Amino acid sequence: MRQSVLFVCLGNICRSPLAEAALREECKNSALNVIIDSAGTGDWHVDQPPDQRAQAVAAKNGVEIAHLRARQVNSSDFRDFDHIIALDNQNMADLKILRPSSSSAQLSLLFDHVDGKAGQDVSDPYYGGPEGFDQTWEEVTAAAKNLRILLTSSK
Ligand code: 4NP
Repeated sequence: MRQSVLFVCLGNICRSPLAEAALREECKNSALNVIIDSAGTGDWHVDQPPDQRAQAVAAKNGVEIAHLRARQVNSSDFRDFDHIIALDNQNMADLKILRPSSSSAQLSLLFDHVDGKAGQDVSDPYYGGPEGFDQTWEEVTAAAKNLRILLTSSK
């Protein structure tokens, strides 16, 4: 069965769509067939495309994300996804509250998949300048490489 990964941040317009794009790119390059999606714990931006600055950094790195639309995480995600990956510790705390007791989804932080960064937050670039989005892209790309290895080994 295809493995599935859901990335979750606050608004689903900055960090998690970039994480989704980075892992999709990584899996495409290694012909690994994985279901990849993203969502937000909040509902302010539902149905909106990613932030322009997120679209720009993705495009600069050869990935198109303009078609993505924000959605809010919901309880069925805990049944539908094998891995649910929070971008920061607040997202993780919110996910733990939402998580049905029957869920067997593996919850982790994105930085748990980057050497030396376990337990840390991916900073929210929303309130800063465009350079913050370059940093986010680097961070989600580093995690995507390790996640691809994890998904390949548990295939
Ligand atoms: P994200 O960034 O969680 O990485 O998508 C944010 C986007 C929007 C808001 C906060 C963070 N907001 O407050 O609207």
